[in-house]
Amino acid sequence: MRHTDKIIFSAAAFLSALLLYTAACKRDPVYIGGVDPDPVDTTGGNNGTGGNGGNQNLHPCDPDSVYFNTQILPILTSNCAMSGCHDAQSHKEGIVLDNYANTRNTGKINLTNPAGSKLYKVLNDSDPNDRMPPAPMSALPLDQRALILKWIQQGALNLSCDADCDTVDVRFSTTVMPLIGYNCQGCHSGTSPSGGVALTNYTQVKASASDGTLMGSITHQSGYQPMPYPIGNAKLSDCNIRAVQIWIDQGAPNN
Ligand code: HEC
Repeated sequence: MRHTDKIIFSAAAFLSALLLYTAACKRDPVYIGGVDPDPVDTTGGNNGTGGNGGNQNLHPCDPDSVYFNTQILPILTSNCAMSGCHDAQSHKEGIVLDNYANTRNTGKINLTNPAGSKLYKVLNDSDPNDRMPPAPMSALPLDQRALILKWIQQGALNLSCDADCDTVDVRFSTTVMPLIGYNCQGCHSGTSPSGGVALTNYTQVKASASDGTLMGSITHQSGYQPMPYPIGNAKLSDCNIRAVQIWIDQGAPNN
């Protein structure tokens, strides 16, 4: 009898566990638009936890995946989504390339034949007037065209990831510059950086730190342009923002 009792008890325990599990599943949050919210850092002050600062919610970046916000959008913003072309106001030929949803909805992306997607084909047109961006702008560099094709081949997804974040040993060379390289340089480099702000070396980043625009823009303070661009894009992770603040509090050294 004892044995049967045990079986009945186990079965009941299993069933209630299953019920609880199912109920828990139903309450799982659904991220509308497929974008993860900012990772929430639950580690508080980060007292010497080392590594990535103890952030439990990091999505590490996969070097083989293409990330729309950090890799594709900067190309589109600096070459296509300008006034008179493919920003929301101008929407030439109905094509708007200023954020993920608009690019996906209007870019004529063909997942079954990625190379046949209009968004990719126009980059390679041999007539410089039909090519995008058209003359007198130059054609996109080959590696940027290849990246756009790879993004479509991977399903034209809106993936996001977090580069490693360490708030214990914060330095310009190992923390701040890589973070800016990954999240900002797509737009803030080259001959005509967005907003006239170049962020490619210590002197330039230090200047933005000193005049307050760096922290103002990444914390979305009122009076500053919220970055990364455009408005509505995900903020940097709390951990990354804290790392930049720690570096500035140290006097923004070139270390
Ligand atoms: C997709 C393109 C893009 C990306 C990515 C981007 N920016 Fe910008 N940024 C812009 C544009 C465009 C402007 C000018 C906005 C305006 O004046 O309307 C700008 C302006 C700025 C300014 C001046 C803000 C002000 O209020 O004076 C700073 C500072 C800045 N960006 C920093 C950053 C940092 C730091 C990152 C990365 C975390 C970043 N940006 C990522 C496009 C971008």
